[in-house]
Amino acid sequence: MTAMPTTPARNVPRHIAVIMDGNGRWAERRRRPRAIGHRAGARAVNLCIDFCLEHGVQALTLFAFSSENWGRPEEEVGALMRLFLNALDREVDELERRGVRVRFIGERGRFKQQLQQRMAAAEAQTAAASHMTLVIAASYGGRQDIAQAARALAMDVAAGILRAEEIDETAVAARMALADLPPPDLFIRTGGDQRISNFLLWQLAYTELWFTDLLWPELDTATLQRALDDFASRERRFGLTSAQLTDANPEHLSA
Ligand code: IPE
Ligand code: IPE
Ligand code: MG
Repeated sequence: MTAMPTTPARNVPRHIAVIMDGNGRWAERRRRPRAIGHRAGARAVNLCIDFCLEHGVQALTLFAFSSENWGRPEEEVGALMRLFLNALDREVDELERRGVRVRFIGERGRFKQQLQQRMAAAEAQTAAASHMTLVIAASYGGRQDIAQAARALAMDVAAGILRAEEIDETAVAARMALADLPPPDLFIRTGGDQRISNFLLWQLAYTELWFTDLLWPELDTATLQRALDDFASRERRFGLTSAQLTDANPEHLSA
């Protein structure tokens, strides 16, 4: 039996995007190899998924590995790949049982064949799950995402499917990652740094940003609750004036 998520209260983000940062520092503070920090981070991933399910969040996007992270020492990249593989083997049945649909965004062709197959299998196994969508951004870069959308547009124009004059925001958005999900309402970054680090550049245009100094392996429910409370108290104006955000314009009300 899968637990039903509670009905989303007003002002609960539909989509949360997270930069899970601070694993390396967590390990270094304990004088342990960085890979130990990544392993400890897996617990926080589960905690975050549970929290979102309980609060009726429709979509959760987790930044697991950036385009630039390929440049880290071979040993660390290798440890991360083993961890991804183990996590997929270990968690997918449980995610399916809990109604979580798993998807990956990023250049998956850069991963070894075995990992690509596991990713495709996880997506296929959970395709019908309907409580929440979990997007794992792996080998993902926001600039790469925009570049591939530009390439897709150019190819459609070359193929005569699209006219250049028809290229507008909607046409671009349709070719970006996450096109079929509501844009992230709330962005959370752990680890104390206040930057985007080439995460969802296009999709974060009107996302509320929230930062914590807590390192990712230290994540707890109270911190996530603080992020939700803070989100609920914000006025999202989308470029309008505060006075315009009345019941006459409900689509502009927060969340
Ligand atoms: C985030 O933690 C996980 C990945 C980038 C894979 P880091 O490994 O960046 O941890 P810090 O920022 O060095 O502490
Ligand atoms: C962002 O963290 C990428 C992930 C969490 C996967 P980084 O640790 O790579 O970002 P920078 O280097 O601090 O900007
Ligand atoms: Mg980092």
